[in-house]
Amino acid sequence: MNRSPVTSAADPVLPAAAGPASGGVIDLTDVEMFAANRHHEAFRRLREESPVYLNPSADGTPFWALTRYEDVLAAYRDHDAFSSAHGAILGGSFRAGGGDTASGDMLVASDPPRHRMLRKVMHPPFNSAMVDRVTAQVRTLVRDAVDAMHRDGGCDIALDFAPLLPVGALMAMFGVGRDDARHIVGLTREMVGYRDATLSDLVGDERTRLAHAQSAIFEYFADLLEERRDAAGDDVIGMLLRSEINGEPLDDTQILYNCMNIAVGGNETSSYTTCSGILAFLENPGEWRRLAAGRELLSSAIEEILRWSSTNAYVQRVAVRDVVVRQTRIAAGDVVTLWNVSANRDPDQFDAPERFDITRAPNRHLSFGSGIHRCIGAPTGNAEIAEAFGALLDGGLGLRLAGEPVRLHSNFILGFTSLPVEVGD
Ligand code: HEM
Repeated sequence: MNRSPVTSAADPVLPAAAGPASGGVIDLTDVEMFAANRHHEAFRRLREESPVYLNPSADGTPFWALTRYEDVLAAYRDHDAFSSAHGAILGGSFRAGGGDTASGDMLVASDPPRHRMLRKVMHPPFNSAMVDRVTAQVRTLVRDAVDAMHRDGGCDIALDFAPLLPVGALMAMFGVGRDDARHIVGLTREMVGYRDATLSDLVGDERTRLAHAQSAIFEYFADLLEERRDAAGDDVIGMLLRSEINGEPLDDTQILYNCMNIAVGGNETSSYTTCSGILAFLENPGEWRRLAAGRELLSSAIEEILRWSSTNAYVQRVAVRDVVVRQTRIAAGDVVTLWNVSANRDPDQFDAPERFDITRAPNRHLSFGSGIHRCIGAPTGNAEIAEAFGALLDGGLGLRLAGEPVRLHSNFILGFTSLPVEVGD
């Protein structure tokens, strides 16, 4: 069924929003909808009734939303038509004077040929030796945390357990101590969750909180860069200091933007995916029993956790030229969002998508994106998540919810600010 709005080449560039046929107008910038976990119903309506949807934003800047698996995948793969140069986040990237200052310098905010060169420079921080280092560091932290859970009778997974994944990754990748790693995780959490007032001590509006967190992360990495400049080691900063593009070393701005890309790309995603996975098991205890009885199911369970959580809910692109999707014209310059969270529950792609099934096969979820920007940190993220669930399984903890989970106020990263659990039988 395709009842998407149809436009001809003569239509205005951004025609008035045509909401889905049933129910009220859907606004995908409404973070309350995501915090209340009501978004899946909205995406069901969009997939069925308006798969190429012009979202009417409160700030007056409409954007297109693609919600069907097939369309999201096709847009990911068509990087000639859909540019990444404006960053992956709606209104949240490094905008100054209408442009994006990270454009062309930060991996995720670049297009070919620049993207190809930056991706090459970014391979060493994600090589298998580094993944092994991350794995070992995360293992120590999460196993200690499971011991503490035994001792204390529970914890808040969102605060005490899941953040240990990025803490361990930062310690291993940047060669920093635990306190520094915690500090960076706090800042990226504030940045990504800038629309959630509970995550910042700062008084001020959303944009002020975002700008504060961004500049604090920058300053942290700038200090680290100064410290390491004359003695480049085998950490990420050392690797980037030794890199070249067209025979030229990277400049400081490029190094800093890409450190930031690693921190922001990795910190919230793997930890919130772990929170979602733990909640999914608490709500589906039969699946936990299956996993506990058959540890060989861990890798397919992680794929299902990734699909289920869709932590990186969407990515942004900007149309480089006029493109027609399902008879709807998207004009050059229009902002287009690719909704992983919707594609991952598209019944045309997944049987019974509302079922959490740790043996789901095939499971070609789009949680890491697709095409040239597919997550370069996917092996790192997978290794971290495997360590978290491995520690919980080995710990033999029977966990149960000890309070209402609190979801993050964000439409970009789907996470939790609280997930209290207690140790049961
Ligand atoms: C469950 C964990 C993760 C999820 C769900 C996730 C999701 C994604 C997605 C959807 C993209 C594509 C962005 C786009 O197309 O615009 C991406 C790219 C990226 N991710 Fe991840 N990510 C995860 C873990 C990580 C980790 C652990 C790191 C670093 C330590 C990382 C670093 C990056 C970077 C640098 C890119 C940019 C790649 C490029 O543009 O070529 N990610 N990630």
